[in-house]
Amino acid sequence: MAKTNKAIKISKKHLLGIQDLSINDINLILNEAKNFISLNKSKNKKIDILRGKTQINLFFEPSTRTQSSFELAGKRLGADVMSMNITNSAIKKGETLIDTAMTLNAMHPDIIVVRHQDSGASNLLSQKVNCAVLNAGDGRREHPTQALLDALTIINRRNKIQGLKIAICGDILHSRVARSNIYLLNMLGAEVNVVAPSNLMPNEIDRLGVNTFSDMKEGLKDCDIVMMLRLQNERMESSFLSSNREYYEYYGLTPDKLSNAKDDALIMHPGPMNRGIEIDTKLADDINKSVIKEQVELGVAVRMACLKIFCE
Ligand code: CP
Repeated sequence: MAKTNKAIKISKKHLLGIQDLSINDINLILNEAKNFISLNKSKNKKIDILRGKTQINLFFEPSTRTQSSFELAGKRLGADVMSMNITNSAIKKGETLIDTAMTLNAMHPDIIVVRHQDSGASNLLSQKVNCAVLNAGDGRREHPTQALLDALTIINRRNKIQGLKIAICGDILHSRVARSNIYLLNMLGAEVNVVAPSNLMPNEIDRLGVNTFSDMKEGLKDCDIVMMLRLQNERMESSFLSSNREYYEYYGLTPDKLSNAKDDALIMHPGPMNRGIEIDTKLADDINKSVIKEQVELGVAVRMACLKIFCE
């Protein structure tokens, strides 16, 4: 029988979370993103593969990196990109997320990128529209493109994720970045340590297949990658920290704590950073250790890959 050479396709209509993806889906996105890294450094950054497609960005929470990189990604692929200004929209007059979704759906977009403060908002939206929905962060649940760009950054530097020891440190409880990274890094074969004070560690952490630590030095021991997290103050209903100074002393990344990781360990942070609270400012800017700027750079490539794959 003749062999058919079927192109590998994404198994899902929407990108709602890492948990929904198969390993083939993840490899498809990461491999596609690798193709865009050099394009994004070239003089002519524009190709026309999404010409005629309409992308709507719907950000109900503030964003610098995710919103701007999704916008650039769509424009570089030739899509018509419309970023809704939420503060001037009918949402301010009380329109619900569902009514907003139905209204936008009537204009026949091909893809909607959504960030929302409620966990599960992107899933709800995906049930109300005909086009693909990409989750740009929903509450404390998932931030799948952040985890994918973090994985691409690690692969770009280390050529693999399998077998690496990776510490995720800080406000695990409120962090969608932590959740998406835990799912993805486990799927890709890393050993994951999570480090947090007990009141910022989720109850369900034992079910997530990670090693847990409350001591930074123990959690960072022999790690290849140290991923710091932002304190999600906007999601804290009461005071979780006695003081910023005390948090920095025990959980801020300093040269002394980092010395427990491998000598060539890489530092990551999804941003925005609280310098001097989550991370020593010199370490954050140390070009021999920090890949924080590279995370932002590769974020555009990952979002181009996601737009291309989920628009097709
Ligand atoms: N990492 C991240 O989601 O950053 P923004 O909030 O700036 O998009």
